[in-house]
Amino acid sequence: MQSSLQSKLHVAIIMDGNGRWATQRRLPRKIGHRIGVEAVRRVVEAAPKLGIGTLTLYAFSADNWRRPEAEVTALMGLLRRYMRTETARLVRAGVRLTAVGRRDRLPEDLAASIEWAETASLQGQALNLRIALDYSSRDAILQAAAMARGPEDLTREGFSRLLNGEQDYRDVDLLIRTSGEQRLSDFLLWECAYSELHFTDRLWPDFGAEDLETALEEFHGRDRRFGGLVESEERAPAVAVS
Ligand code: IPE
Ligand code: IPE
Ligand code: MG
Repeated sequence: MQSSLQSKLHVAIIMDGNGRWATQRRLPRKIGHRIGVEAVRRVVEAAPKLGIGTLTLYAFSADNWRRPEAEVTALMGLLRRYMRTETARLVRAGVRLTAVGRRDRLPEDLAASIEWAETASLQGQALNLRIALDYSSRDAILQAAAMARGPEDLTREGFSRLLNGEQDYRDVDLLIRTSGEQRLSDFLLWECAYSELHFTDRLWPDFGAEDLETALEEFHGRDRRFGGLVESEERAPAVAVS
């Protein structure tokens, strides 16, 4: 992966609440998904300016196939349209798009659009945009484990490389979930081992650059210890323990 992006933040977002946004307005759920795409545009545009090098967006989980066929079809159509209409803008902005998740169950024209968008945006240096679709973190971990060939693959670094394929991404620094839900829903379980978590009641179609900025401000105020101590605690005089 591009070293300059590797040194910047990795933010992951569980974009939730499209359906409720629509239902609150007595609109069909698919309209919520459609308006949700505008929120994607806003965060992708804002991300590089906020010090984000990698942005992973959860667009469709492996369990979302359980939804009614009409909703799934609408989502697949929106994803295809996003790839086709957004790629030129992404390339201009220096965004490299990659899809994560299974491809073999996607409609053929969507899989083709993804490949086309990935190839067209390959040179992007401003942001790694990863779209997770037909994604399950547990399945991704199982698949990586099945690829392990020796002890060198079964180290933290080696396994991370197996999970990410040829591109290597840093672990998630900040995980955001909208709509008030506070769960991971099988998203980036390995990569979020030490992530800071930010939950907001905002429904995804209402999420904007300011919300991303707020989440990052809060993130920068957190003490990340990774099991150790923060600097000020290390310097504090030891208290005698009897
Ligand atoms: C998130 O919104 C988008 C996808 C899961 C594809 P939802 O569709 O889950 O919206 P709610 O949670 O029903 O409001
Ligand atoms: C997680 O949201 C998947 C995406 C946002 C794409 P869901 O709405 O599907 O998750 P649950 O069912 O509430 O856990
Ligand atoms: Mg939901």
